[in-house]
Amino acid sequence: MSSGVKRLGVLTGGGDCPGLNPVIRAVTRRAMMAGITVVGIKDGWKGLVNGITVPLDQESVSGILNRGGTILGSSRTNPYKKPEDAVKVKENIAKLQLDALVPIGGEDTLGVATKLSKEGVNLVGVPKTIDNDLSATDFTFGFDTAVNVAMEAIDRLHTTAESHHRILVCEVMGRHAGWIATYAGIAGGADVILVPEVPIDVNQVIDVVKKRKARGRDFSIIVVAEGAQFKQGADSTITKELDAFGHARLGGIGEQLAKLVEEKTGHETRTTVLGHIQRGGSPTAFDRVLGTRFGVKAAELVIEGKFGQMVSLQGNKIAGVPIEQGTGKLKTVDLDLYQLSKVFSG
Ligand code: F6P
Repeated sequence: MSSGVKRLGVLTGGGDCPGLNPVIRAVTRRAMMAGITVVGIKDGWKGLVNGITVPLDQESVSGILNRGGTILGSSRTNPYKKPEDAVKVKENIAKLQLDALVPIGGEDTLGVATKLSKEGVNLVGVPKTIDNDLSATDFTFGFDTAVNVAMEAIDRLHTTAESHHRILVCEVMGRHAGWIATYAGIAGGADVILVPEVPIDVNQVIDVVKKRKARGRDFSIIVVAEGAQFKQGADSTITKELDAFGHARLGGIGEQLAKLVEEKTGHETRTTVLGHIQRGGSPTAFDRVLGTRFGVKAAELVIEGKFGQMVSLQGNKIAGVPIEQGTGKLKTVDLDLYQLSKVFSG
């Protein structure tokens, strides 16, 4: 059954990640096959507050599959922060004659989408984030690229750590979930992996370093997630300022940990913060394929009129799930997988 959608708006919100352009391309190509006109909304929800759009057609999405970032731009705009902005969003949807939306985003962008959907806006969400912390999908695109970037960094840290007999701490992103740290740490053969889900026990970290030293390995690699905390600790943050969704800018745990480890072991310890490098650049093949499959499925759900859904990866199948399932609860790291990394500690 066809939904009768004639004009479809697409937007990308929140932190960018590799794979957004493949989704934009796939939604556009599949919707155009069904005779739908596709409109790109600039800079996430901000573009709908201000009514700023660009046309999306075969020409404009050509050659973007391998490009990182998003051709539509992004922002962390929360239209529900000011009631008049949420009204403007709905007015602009009507003014722009958009019959449906495909918002591509993480918990914040899709959280806004969930509210709009409950208020009667026709939409299908696409989950994205390097953090991989959205529920109801096995993976989000962007994660695989970020893990590969972090893994390569850990490989590089290994050679210099070994040459200089140092302990190197590598701080990775992931917000309050330890997915990037766990995957990159396992893939890169880190000696210690620290995640937000398990409080940091400094004595255990030091034990690992000492055990390695005792067997002649006088260097160690520690991967720490930006959201990891010491026992009885709090988030390490860069500023006290919060973004429009109430999130603090995480960062600094790597340096704090390095100081403690150096103090307690007398072993020279340095920190590398990978930061936005994990979010930039060309998507991996996995993220290009996942983004493409998500985009095609989102367009098909729009064509079928199955709104209020989010596309998701389940095993190796792409399916639609109610959008609130994706954003309702943070998907924290699989602790069995995390425990597996302990086999290689020490
Ligand atoms: O959610 C993705 C993410 O990259 C997090 O891992 C990180 O904490 C945050 O965004 C950084 O956001 P910003 O773009 O505000 O620096």
